[in-house]
Amino acid sequence: MSNLTPISVSDYFDDAAFKRLKALADTKETPFVAIDTQTIATHYAELEDNFPFASIYYAVKANPAPEILELLKNKGSNFDIASIYELDKVLKLGVSPDRISYGNTIKKSKDIRKFYEAGVRLYATDSEADLRNIAKAAPGSKVFVRILTEGTDTADWPLSRKFGCQNDMAMDLLMLARDLGLDPYGVSFHVGSQQRDIGAWDSALGKTKVIFERLKEEEGIHLKMINMGGGFPANYITRTNDLKTYAEDITRFLREDFGDDFPEIIIEPGRSLIANAGILVSEVVLISRKSRTALNRWIYQDAGKFSGLIETLDEAIKFPIYTEKTGEMEEVVIAGPTCDSADVMYENYKYGLPLNLAIGDRLYWLSTGAYTTTYSAIEFNGFPPLKDYYV
Ligand SMILES: Cc1ncc(COP(=O)(O)O)c(C=O)c1O
Repeated sequence: MSNLTPISVSDYFDDAAFKRLKALADTKETPFVAIDTQTIATHYAELEDNFPFASIYYAVKANPAPEILELLKNKGSNFDIASIYELDKVLKLGVSPDRISYGNTIKKSKDIRKFYEAGVRLYATDSEADLRNIAKAAPGSKVFVRILTEGTDTADWPLSRKFGCQNDMAMDLLMLARDLGLDPYGVSFHVGSQQRDIGAWDSALGKTKVIFERLKEEEGIHLKMINMGGGFPANYITRTNDLKTYAEDITRFLREDFGDDFPEIIIEPGRSLIANAGILVSEVVLISRKSRTALNRWIYQDAGKFSGLIETLDEAIKFPIYTEKTGEMEEVVIAGPTCDSADVMYENYKYGLPLNLAIGDRLYWLSTGAYTTTYSAIEFNGFPPLKDYYV
């Protein structure tokens, strides 16, 4: 697709959902995110249909709005939690602790204790120090060890290097977990968010299988669970396969490695559940050229890297941008409103926007339901945090 082709909303939203969002958006001051909860319910049902054998643990970090947590709680979702603050949010909604996994490998001992006291018994780890803390603060709990995976180049928002450990260390940790009186429960991985190469799950599952087999044969440890993390696709400008294709391939990989009798399978979707339910609406503040002969206009608008669009760092996530103006298109640079030169969203990848786009027009950043609201700064340059509304 040429970047001078106008974005077609119907590639990203069904008509009714966009109408609902637009009706809400028309009553609000920019910038804000508007989210259609019905779309989230549809995505949840799709995940359940496509991964019927898996338990869903919503990655709360994608968007912790109570409207979303409540909806997913009522759908039967479990929750992947990163901090005591997220824990408080889900407990307040009455989620029982057996539906919670403490999925962050980086945690304070006193925070582990809080989770334990709340009744949580499922913990991720990838290091000896953390495992020893879990043994002390959450005795007898189930632990799963996160392994390093490949696929950094094909994930638009990679998570790889920071988390996980090599296979030999994963096995050491699971043995140590047993020796410390914990329940060595399974293996987890995250192949990188918005992972476009489905093969990344194949290699991660291959590594997982080796750990399952060797621990069984050499140590008599029977692991019970595989946590396949997130990484499932949302719709952005850089296209991916659809969820069904992901699920079919991943199910085949599982079958090849584990036969028909899968271990317990967990998935932790964030982006794939929420992103395509939301739009971020901004207003054009200023349009300029840098010289009389400059080819590209700069479009400054009232949302930027510090108000929800941080995933445009290195132009990693290319959000589809829709405007109601039509007509001849021109390549532009798109920037935010703050006095920080890092606050430029797209300069290398040139978006096309209509030449008649004017100050005061609105831009609709599609697929912005996930990883936007919570990433917003609280007062950078005095701007308040990004607002969010729910239909
Ligand atoms: C442990 C864990 N699980 C799940 C997710 C969600 O991933 P995604 O948004 O790609 O679905 C993340 C994202 O950072 C994560 O850190």
